[in-house]
Amino acid sequence: MDENIRKVSEELDSAAPGLTHQEAIEAFRIRFLGRKGTVSALFEQLGTVPKEQRGQIGKQLNDLKNKAQGLIDAATAGQQNSVINTRTDLTLPGYPVQFGKLHPLTVVMNEMIEIFRFLGFSVASGPELEHDWYNFEALNFEHDHPARDMQDTYFIDRDLLLRTHTSPVQIRVMESQKPPIRSIMPGRVYRNEAVSARSYCLFHQLEGLLVDKNVSFVDLKTILLAFAREFFGPQTKIKLRPSFFPFTEPSAEVDVSCHLCHGKGCRVCKHTGWLEILGCGMVDPNVLKACNVDPEEYSGYAFGMGIDRIAMMRYGIDDIRLLWDNNQRFLQQF
Ligand code: DAH
Repeated sequence: MDENIRKVSEELDSAAPGLTHQEAIEAFRIRFLGRKGTVSALFEQLGTVPKEQRGQIGKQLNDLKNKAQGLIDAATAGQQNSVINTRTDLTLPGYPVQFGKLHPLTVVMNEMIEIFRFLGFSVASGPELEHDWYNFEALNFEHDHPARDMQDTYFIDRDLLLRTHTSPVQIRVMESQKPPIRSIMPGRVYRNEAVSARSYCLFHQLEGLLVDKNVSFVDLKTILLAFAREFFGPQTKIKLRPSFFPFTEPSAEVDVSCHLCHGKGCRVCKHTGWLEILGCGMVDPNVLKACNVDPEEYSGYAFGMGIDRIAMMRYGIDDIRLLWDNNQRFLQQF
């Protein structure tokens, strides 16, 4: 009898993992606890057991029956749980899904890149931690140029600094590629300036460089007008004012007619009708020479614009710090 009880107990153990659905549970119940089931059959044999052992065997049988019933109960409870879990009420109201938004700077930068790609420019990038050579020397800055002053530049040591503009990437591009070159170089730049509504210690620029045979100032004007009309609207006019940059000769600053008031004068253009958007010029022969490009054979133009300033004009943002606050209510608007 002992031996039979042990066998049935083992059978219970090996059948238990199969109790995964209602039919299997019912078959299990019939096999072990049904009227003709194995456990019931053992109970029937109890009468043949010698009296002295009956109490002890009876207890073992009860344990066996409880074990079988326990397995059935556990499996049934598991089934009910999974029924509850899979029956989702599709009519319940959903949780609102939070959508992310692109930062206004990213929106503007992507749009600029897209326009210049369309005009045939490829995108290049360079390091934000830069050598004096790339940031100043190769760009024809005099040794006593005020931009090298500690006030403007974050120096890391005598040679390394946080780039103050994206123009050093021009040098890196010319070092690594032979003309013809047609590249734009967007990126972060750093200046040691007091933070205020109008200036921040880091901002973004987009640099442009074209080097080829017979490039003229007209090519530069044409590409800038095409960009301005695409970015600010087809009615946009541009105005070039003579200026100075060490790395271009001649140099100019470019204004676009205000896209908000169309030249009539408003808060954004400070009632001038014009917005200053970039610096540009013909690449200085000294810069070409520093990059081993022969100025007798090649000429080029370059331009650089401040992305943050342009984004602020476009959206009428009057405090540059808003671009860095990560205030959701501000950022949701773009
Ligand atoms: N690097 C200049 C700046 O940060 C902007 C600039 C002016 C870039 C003229 C140019 C350029 O490529 O030709 O103010």
